Amino acid sequence: MHFDFFVEGGDFTKAGSASSELKRILKQLNIKPAIIKKTVIALYEAEVNIVAHAYEGKIMIDLTPEEIHIVLDDKGPGIPDIPLAMQKGYSTASQKVREMGFGAGMGIPNIKNNCDNLIITSEVGKGTRLEITTRINT
Ligand SMILES: Nc1ncnc2c1ncn2[C@@H]1O[C@H](COP(=O)(O)OP(=O)(O)OP(=O)(O)O)[C@@H](O)[C@H]1O
Ligand SMILES: [Mg+2]
Repeated sequence: MHFDFFVEGGDFTKAGSASSELKRILKQLNIKPAIIKKTVIALYEAEVNIVAHAYEGKIMIDLTPEEIHIVLDDKGPGIPDIPLAMQKGYSTASQKVREMGFGAGMGIPNIKNNCDNLIITSEVGKGTRLEITTRINT
């Protein structure tokens, strides 16, 4: 099964809609609650990162009996230092984003802790790509 979503940068009113939709789909498919929970947390953080840090992005989800494979591809400033961005507490969030309660620098560490494999690639000035994989048969 394949699902696509579009994410608009800066639009916090819709942040989290792809992860809510994925939650609904995984529940219908009777996926284990623990797997649903971690996958939805990982996607939520990645989705909010597009809203908070990029201009726009697309989310592509592939579900197989073995795994949930999510790719988030955004157009945005990119991440100059990925190992640094992966550290707990590192954030470049704007004042506006912080006022909305984001910017603790915990999103990427949270994604890492809630999936089985995370691959981040980025080109400064172009955008960022996250590939998040969770195994279902665990
Ligand atoms: N899609 C993205 N495009 C550009 N930069 C990003 C993107 N995602 C993350 N970053 C960079 O990595 C940093 C760390 O991201 P992370 O999600 O861990 O923290 P945060 O978004 O700043 O705060 P929090 O997620 O805790 O609200 C961000 O502050 C930003 O500099
Ligand atoms: Mg974040």
